[in-house]
Amino acid sequence: MRTVGIIGAGSWGIALAKNLSNNGHKITIWSIIEDEIAMLKEHRECLDKLPGVKLSENVDFTCNLEETIIGKDMLVLAVPSVFTRSTAKSMAPYVAKDQKIVCVAKGIEEETLMTITEVVEAEIPAADVCVLSGPSHAEEVGTGLPTTVVAGAKTQRTAEFVQDAFMNESFRVYTSPDVLGIELGGSLKNVIALAAGMADGLGYGDNTKAALITRGISEITRLAVAMGAKAETLTGLTGMGDLIVTCQSKHSRNRKAGMLMGQGMSMEEATKEVKMVVEGVYSAKAALALAKKYNVTMPIIEQVNMVLFDGKSAKDAVTDLMLRDKRIEHAALDWNVQN
Ligand SMILES: NC(=O)c1ccc[n+]([C@@H]2O[C@H](COP(=O)([O-])OP(=O)(O)OC[C@H]3O[C@@H](n4cnc5c(N)ncnc54)[C@H](O)[C@@H]3O)[C@@H](O)[C@H]2O)c1
Repeated sequence: MRTVGIIGAGSWGIALAKNLSNNGHKITIWSIIEDEIAMLKEHRECLDKLPGVKLSENVDFTCNLEETIIGKDMLVLAVPSVFTRSTAKSMAPYVAKDQKIVCVAKGIEEETLMTITEVVEAEIPAADVCVLSGPSHAEEVGTGLPTTVVAGAKTQRTAEFVQDAFMNESFRVYTSPDVLGIELGGSLKNVIALAAGMADGLGYGDNTKAALITRGISEITRLAVAMGAKAETLTGLTGMGDLIVTCQSKHSRNRKAGMLMGQGMSMEEATKEVKMVVEGVYSAKAALALAKKYNVTMPIIEQVNMVLFDGKSAKDAVTDLMLRDKRIEHAALDWNVQN
């Protein structure tokens, strides 16, 4: 039995609490929103975000951050990426040396281009910061549908600690040393999911979706490798796996926002309609800035940015992608390259 503090009581924090409590751990969930904690205390369930997922008696709820952190074997930071820095700042005074913080948000900070673990490490240098990511919708984890994810950490010891804490018959956890690759896959897939949603909104078919997924992972991999991540990671659960689920799933808020834009809404109208933070919108700008910084071509991400921020129609964006300069599929397979 471990003691775990979960910071953030959104869909993902609650679903992970359910999974961890099934493993017999003692959980404390914190939220900045008092009404949210009051609802959880009364119903043991998040009625609006994850109805039907009841939390057991080994889960406590609080608005007191200090109480959530002090003495816990592991902390799970589950607030949306836009609130990561402010939340980490508030956590810092209570975090002990080498206390484990598992980052589960997916995003890149727009202003600094830092990943989530980089932000947390900068705000809480004492902590042992790692990541848990993969194709894992809260709605499915909450109801115990088989799911696989990856725990990424600088040390094998930490990755295996996280693997042991989370793993069970419906939640399989792999380990990896490639924290950067995991984080880039998890955040950049949200931008491609916006494009996949736009294609759905335009009434395009499975061929278009398959093209966006495969060409999407190809540009994510180019950037990730240029930044020092490992290409293998992007072929795995946190790269291709998460991209497939986000581009296909009815649960994906990024795909949904993209679909509304494909149907003609502006970015502002679409994100308002989805009602939750659409992280791909923030990551799109960051991805474009990273592409420029590392001199990498990212045509889908460029077009998504134009639709989001320059008023370009999704239809014109797809046409421009189709009529780009003719290219070979894989530069490494050029006829002139000797194998
Ligand atoms: N939902 C999923 O299926 C899922 C799966 C994997 C990863 N994630 C990632 O987990 C993160 C959280 O996602 P979610 O679905 O739980 O989001 P959510 O929109 O359900 O979470 C919102 C929660 O964040 C907290 N919050 C709101 N404002 C805050 C503030 N100003 N400061 C601190 N906390 C605040 C509150 O507890 C609120 O309920 C995201 O980065 C997401 O990409 C989500």
